[in-house]
Amino acid sequence: MLGSIVLFGPPGAGKGTQATRIVELTGKPQVSTGDMLRAAVVAGTELGVEAKGYMDAGELVPDQVIIGLIKERLKEPDATSGVLFDGFPRTIPQAEALASITDVSAVISIEVPDEDIVGRIVGRRMDPETGDIYHISFKPPPPEIEDRLVQRKDDTEETVRNRLDAYHEQTEPLGSWYRSRGLLTPVDGSGTIAEVGDAVASAVIGL
Ligand code: AP5
Repeated sequence: MLGSIVLFGPPGAGKGTQATRIVELTGKPQVSTGDMLRAAVVAGTELGVEAKGYMDAGELVPDQVIIGLIKERLKEPDATSGVLFDGFPRTIPQAEALASITDVSAVISIEVPDEDIVGRIVGRRMDPETGDIYHISFKPPPPEIEDRLVQRKDDTEETVRNRLDAYHEQTEPLGSWYRSRGLLTPVDGSGTIAEVGDAVASAVIGL
């Protein structure tokens, strides 16, 4: 049986956008550490207060905090047949911790060159009511909801550069770690949202 799937890739690669398609195909719940941390920041919990400084600076939240969060999430009843991880794991210690608590069947790596990332991130807008992700040019929102859309605080050009540095230094080596275990499926993420969606769907159907 198919266990958990990891969606891997740089910030702004389209992990959140394509997660919706994988959830439809597999029925597995999406577990996004970024969404969980942002919810904790809004709720003002101890976790949110600790995570906020790292997130605003575009740095990774410490491994032990993230691993604790995931261990709790995987105790929920909807996680028993595996989940779709979005934005986790992001370091080798996180991947090692994950391997000790659940079975990862596949890692889908959405590959996008750095030069495409900044434009994608700076133009991103989120719908706070539905969580839907839009882009001012590549996925324009319906005019009737434009006024309620928000921009993430870490979606500035300066913070994106830090997030890309963190990705290359701490997260990218994890791609080789999963490749050496025969789990990595690379997908070209440089096309349109629909083209990348089709490539991701083919990868998932082939698992
Ligand atoms: P997180 O929320 O996980 O952010 P991220 O990894 O930087 O990824 P994004 O959400 O920015 O991008 P995405 O790949 O989901 O792209 P999207 O689909 O939205 O993490 C935020 C912070 O939390 C981190 O910096 C860190 O501090 C902390 N954190 C989270 N997890 C952690 C962990 N495990 N360990 C430690 N710290 C952690 O698409 C982006 C935009 O592009 C959208 O506007 C979309 O419409 C558009 N788009 C998507 N695909 C395409 C396409 N093919 N063509 C054109 N536009 C496209």
